Amino acid sequence: MTSILITGIGELVTCDGTGEDQLGIRSGTALVAADDLIAWLGPAAQAPAADRRIDVGGRALIPGFVDSHSHLVFAGDRGQEFAARMAGRPYDGGGIGTTVAATRDTDDAGLSALVAARVAEARAQGTTTIEIKSGYGLTVADEVRALRIASDFTSEMTFLGAHVVPAEFAADRDAYLDLVTGPMLAAAAPYARWIDVFCEPSSPHAFSGEEARRVLLAGAEAGLGLRVHGNQLGPGPGVQLAVELGAASVDHCTHLSNADVDALSAARDTTVATLLPGVEFCTRSPYPDAARLLGAGVSIALATDCNPGTCYSSSMPWVISLAVTAMGLTPAQAVYAATAGSAASLRRTDIGRLVVGARADLAVLDAPSYLHLAYRPGVPIARALDLDS
Ligand code: NIG
Ligand code: FE
Repeated sequence: MTSILITGIGELVTCDGTGEDQLGIRSGTALVAADDLIAWLGPAAQAPAADRRIDVGGRALIPGFVDSHSHLVFAGDRGQEFAARMAGRPYDGGGIGTTVAATRDTDDAGLSALVAARVAEARAQGTTTIEIKSGYGLTVADEVRALRIASDFTSEMTFLGAHVVPAEFAADRDAYLDLVTGPMLAAAAPYARWIDVFCEPSSPHAFSGEEARRVLLAGAEAGLGLRVHGNQLGPGPGVQLAVELGAASVDHCTHLSNADVDALSAARDTTVATLLPGVEFCTRSPYPDAARLLGAGVSIALATDCNPGTCYSSSMPWVISLAVTAMGLTPAQAVYAATAGSAASLRRTDIGRLVVGARADLAVLDAPSYLHLAYRPGVPIARALDLDS
């Protein structure tokens, strides 16, 4: 076992505080990591001896970001679709088929290399845990392949066979649902921790509330935890369904009714509302009022949704700056939502907080304070701290 003493920490954000000091900020603190866990944390002057030392030179140290919603397993490019959208064409999920075709056409090594590059890109911006969904295969073999590749990079793999109805099933949606909830789920479940569904009745490509219910119940029966893409393109049943079925997270939450907010508030210990402001930014959609959600007592998380259609960005710092400038969060609330909040959406307590016994997943900022994550938008100040070098 190698122990590593980290010194020179300017501001330590533990995310282990309460109330006004939810970030649990400490100064004059050092930290010892051993076997990838935090073994000691306390006043620098009392730090124990360790095998190695890393001095971070007065920089701020925060929990590595937990990006709890991404679609990294894809090939192809949809830059033209983005340009068309910026010229006024609305997003309805129809472009997903383009990515499905390109992904199916790419061999395992090629697809794996694309995921590796995207995970490295996220890590270079401070992300230390990333949830990865399937959903661009939509055959039994291609969905299993996506999850297998994802499992080389994360333990948070999500089966999203119910992303859209693929073109070959356009005339028979029920047959596709039979496949997703039958043989595809059976083959995918051993490689997944979660099941997700794109519940969006306003999109002809996505799934209605009743269809989504069928998918989620089958997933639960197969032992998977539940996540929902809900209320992204318009008002809909996704939030209520997620709460009713005890999903860990309902993601997007762009269009919420008062009843949706009330349901999320009542379910605060079970269901997290995961906000994805990069999507609103890249689709020119209205932002949900995150400050209102917090005011109502809703548990919130922030994630990128990195995908080729609605938000091709792996940057959690950018998401934090958007959440502050466009969704009404304070910098402290946004950093908490991107770490401890998103960890909660994955039902994890070993990440997202810097406490003894938690994983030593650390991000270092080229800045004196976490405040700079929102204050310096677009500037690459965050990176995951590599304890191995
Ligand atoms: O989270 N909404 C569904 N899925 C993705 C977009 C996928 C795509 O357009 O390729 C999302 O926004
Ligand atoms: Fe998504």
